[in-house]
Amino acid sequence: MAALQSFTLAGVIGWPVAQSRSPVLHGHWLAQYGIKGAYLPLPVQPERLPDAIRGLRALGFAGCNVTIPHKLGVLKLVDRIDPVAARIGAVNTVVVQNDGTLSGLNTDAYGFLASLRDIQADYRADAGAIVVLGAGGAARAVVVALLDDGAAEIRLINRTLERAQELARIDPSRVKVMGWDQRDEALEGAALLVNTTSQGMVGYPPLEISLDALPKTAIVSDIVYNPLETPLLAAARKRDNIAVDGLGMLLHQAVPAFEAFYGVRPHVSHELRRAVEATL
Ligand code: ATR
Repeated sequence: MAALQSFTLAGVIGWPVAQSRSPVLHGHWLAQYGIKGAYLPLPVQPERLPDAIRGLRALGFAGCNVTIPHKLGVLKLVDRIDPVAARIGAVNTVVVQNDGTLSGLNTDAYGFLASLRDIQADYRADAGAIVVLGAGGAARAVVVALLDDGAAEIRLINRTLERAQELARIDPSRVKVMGWDQRDEALEGAALLVNTTSQGMVGYPPLEISLDALPKTAIVSDIVYNPLETPLLAAARKRDNIAVDGLGMLLHQAVPAFEAFYGVRPHVSHELRRAVEATL
């Protein structure tokens, strides 16, 4: 019986879910750390989400990750929402507590900053002005991460101005909205540029931006991970800016989730990176 109880179940809920890299990621760590458990892809239709989330406890799951299209829907299905997840307005991890209640977390903000520090260990968001392109769910996580890390000035730029204005309400004194047509000049004096739009992703046109005004010391981060080297990152590397690809965020956001499910804080290794790269 004890042996059975020590088998830990978790998984990722999405619709569809086949595109999720989370089973590869968590599976790699389960094998690496010799943990008795499994991490499953769990396809759940939107109308079945309440049943599925409630079922976690009944099935003895330690928790689950939540991906498209459920990151918003799950907010109202958990018993408590972590303050970071509340500010982002989305949950990507549900943890079943010992008393059976459900906690909703969002580890994307953590994952974004950890991916920057993988490339530049001493990076801090108070290092200088930051330009964030995009205002979707990923942008919300990036902006919250940077604000919590001490960012003094975030220049937020989105094709649809209203969405940027809505996001800026998180902290209007530090998040300044600029127009999409101002994106080239917004790079003046910036220490970090982050692309959270879909532009540059496989099947999408490249992001249209001129890096001429960007200081050579700035970091350029693209949260797109397919392809790993987007046209934006290629242009950044060509002019000697440090380039950070989107795979790091994907790998690091899984760290706090794995720890919450299985009780071991896993390491993001080169082997893990290669294992996930092989699935792209
Ligand atoms: P996610 O939650 O993954 O961030 P999303 O909510 O669909 O995804 O957001 C996609 C982002 O890419 C948005 O900022 C979107 O801009 P809009 O808010 O104007 O839609 C941006 N985006 C998509 N297509 C774009 C394009 N052709 N040019 C510029 N930005 C684009």
